[in-house]
Amino acid sequence: MTDKSMASLTQEQAAAEAAELRPQLIAWGKQYYDADTPKVEDDVYDRAYARLVALETAFPAIVTPDSPTQRVGGSTKSDLPKVVHDIPMLSLGDVFSIEELQEFDERLRGNVADDFDYNCELKIDGLAISLRYENGEFVQGSTRGNGQIGEDITANLKTITSIPQTLSRPLTIDVRGECYMPKAAFLALNERREAAGQAPFANPRNAAAGSLRQQNTQVTADRKLATFMYNIADYEPLNTRTQSGLLDELAELGFTTNPTYQVAHNMTDVGDYIEQYQGQRSELPYGIDGIVIKVNTLPLQRSLGATVKDPRWAIAYKFPPEEVEAKVLDIEWTVGRTGIVTPTAVMTPVALAGSTVARASLHNPDYLTAKDIRLGDTVLLHKAGDIIPEISQYVVAKRPADAEPYVIPTHCPSCGAELVHLDEEVALRCINPRCPAQLAEGMNHFASRNAMNIAGLGPQIVAQLFDRKLVDDVASLYRLTNDQLLTLDKFGEKSAQNLLTAIDNSRNNSLERLLFGLGIRHVGAKAARSIAAEFGDIGSLMTADSESISAIDTVGGIIADSVVTYFASDQVRELIDELRAVGVNLTYTSGAETAIDTEGQFAGQRIVLTGKLQELSRPEATAWLEQHGATVTGSVSKKTDLLIAGEAAGSKLTKAESLNVPVWNEAQLQAAMAETK
Ligand code: IVH
Repeated sequence: MTDKSMASLTQEQAAAEAAELRPQLIAWGKQYYDADTPKVEDDVYDRAYARLVALETAFPAIVTPDSPTQRVGGSTKSDLPKVVHDIPMLSLGDVFSIEELQEFDERLRGNVADDFDYNCELKIDGLAISLRYENGEFVQGSTRGNGQIGEDITANLKTITSIPQTLSRPLTIDVRGECYMPKAAFLALNERREAAGQAPFANPRNAAAGSLRQQNTQVTADRKLATFMYNIADYEPLNTRTQSGLLDELAELGFTTNPTYQVAHNMTDVGDYIEQYQGQRSELPYGIDGIVIKVNTLPLQRSLGATVKDPRWAIAYKFPPEEVEAKVLDIEWTVGRTGIVTPTAVMTPVALAGSTVARASLHNPDYLTAKDIRLGDTVLLHKAGDIIPEISQYVVAKRPADAEPYVIPTHCPSCGAELVHLDEEVALRCINPRCPAQLAEGMNHFASRNAMNIAGLGPQIVAQLFDRKLVDDVASLYRLTNDQLLTLDKFGEKSAQNLLTAIDNSRNNSLERLLFGLGIRHVGAKAARSIAAEFGDIGSLMTADSESISAIDTVGGIIADSVVTYFASDQVRELIDELRAVGVNLTYTSGAETAIDTEGQFAGQRIVLTGKLQELSRPEATAWLEQHGATVTGSVSKKTDLLIAGEAAGSKLTKAESLNVPVWNEAQLQAAMAETK
């Protein structure tokens, strides 16, 4: 295998290399499923596969339909144990027009003497799974694999709440269906991945497949996967003898089934069903890519049987891709927190599959070049996995005569440093550690809710702080003064004070918030928490080696290596010293903090704070009271249990007195705080 970087390859060279890799990978993949033949070393396969993915990502035009990369959940190699499907898991024949669907119907009716109905179902865009129950207990779950042999993913499937562990009857059955990731869970997952500096998933199906085929059950559990079951290998143990009845019976047994199915007597009914769900597609909380019609009588299904690949009793009607034209007005390059510079096509806003779309990611320069998209082009837009706007191609006939090939920038749009490709990466990067765009993105992340949670420090203020050179790293935030903040747009005494207080309070955060906020590659909020809890303070973590970090239950080698690399940097060590110097807490304090007192004198009390406190800050007092079980509210009523009044208390004090609500001053609160310690 040649190992040239993408930038130096032509499309022809990439195509030639990919054409060599594909049959090799397919052969290795087959050997993997055949226990008798020796198999190639895992990493040889993995490296070759990764190279093919890189080639095809850089030059999408060279992808062939039979490429091993195009077989979702197919017979690709993995370390998961194999499962033989006693009754094969079939796939479905596809049709793309109503006419072809009519032909399917006519063919079938020509071969079947009796009249029959169809059951119409949505074609869920996920991956097929098979669940085995013995005497009503879930014993094994697998992927479809190549239809004959799948992969054992029992442990991961056990984390999915819609899969029952025990059925309502003690049946021994293999139930088949679809595992998918709901659109909302997919968007949230990608947001989290981007916050942790990881590549987002391209669509919900890839996200679901990736979640099921990786080996950490905790990861699967966090991914919010769902299932719809719709088939059974052998219907004999069931009471019903129809497909629609089967869905009802599966639901009674404890499975989640899709409620949208409809029995159709003829093709007019089928057409109505298609029309209805094609229209509602964008409103569904999960992706669908068509509908499936199935002969509704189970014994008739059985007697019709299957070809090598597909059942004769069912067919999938694929929705025509929902595509619209839009004009490319600009290609915007943005610098992310990790320095990756990403192109986005900015287009005339168009309505597409339920939303208005004006932007689509072009991922990286190679992708943009391979698609040959130019300013002023009219492009075809669709939604990948029913959700992510994607440009499929430009419209040749509509290209303006003077459109020039797009020239990829060579310098960072933010700091002007020269852009580079690291190793084999297709991504273009700015590697200037002081690039303002990266620093600003990093500070936004630092201030975000799951990180240091600095309320009021949003992207617009961060941008101004950098523009006015009031900050240059996250430590310098803690040196900001009231006067400096007053120079910001629309900032008055009150907003300046609030922001300073929020920044000040964040000094006391427990270590996991800082660890996540630093934006260490691959370190999400959860990993940050486990690491902080294990090491207790940043000093111990900074001297830890990769083995001791990856020894933590939910932390893998990639995260551990990333942490070690991060703290090996002199610049990072300087930053940590700075943070220490400005009084940011570098220890883990959550263990003690999180348990809210439910028994002390403040537990369950409704408390109002008013007036100016001298010694304590308002957020500090509120946090302490809440920690001790109180609810701190804004206005006094009959339900208020206590008013704490500082200097110059006004109407709230008067109201409390008139309602006979007990009133304390600041000193009384401090005394209670001291006692409770
Ligand atoms: S029936 C023999 N019903 O589509 C039964 N499949 O393209 C074959 N799919 O592998 C499957 N929703 O992963 C069936 N309501 C549905 C489906 C469905 C999604 C998937 C399934 C199958 C693929 C075939």
